[in-house]
Amino acid sequence: MNLLPTTVVAAIDQLPEGQLVERELSLAGELESVLLLRRGGQVQAWLNLCPHAGRRLDYAPGQFLLSAGGELVCPVHGATFELQAGVCTAGPCRGQSLKALPVQLADGQVLLGGSC
Ligand code: FES
Repeated sequence: MNLLPTTVVAAIDQLPEGQLVERELSLAGELESVLLLRRGGQVQAWLNLCPHAGRRLDYAPGQFLLSAGGELVCPVHGATFELQAGVCTAGPCRGQSLKALPVQLADGQVLLGGSC
């Protein structure tokens, strides 16, 4: 288990409902691209890396391919990820998952950090 220092990402009101947002953040001293998804009062976060070959999941910064069913499609080889647990449902890394990051909400702010 890794511990990440807590990083303020955004006010929850700045994240559009139901849309993937990409942010570049310093996590444990490394600049990382992070995917954020707000649904209601909850926010999920994953590293912007496909588990198949470690490529980014956006085809251009902050631009994502979605299937007709709303799943995230990797633009490199077409792996498809459901956006509840981040599991690949089809493609070359079927059954593998996006790397989830711990999210905390406090006073309307979205924080990344804690154990992952
Ligand atoms: S890098 Fe995403 S499917 Fe190959």
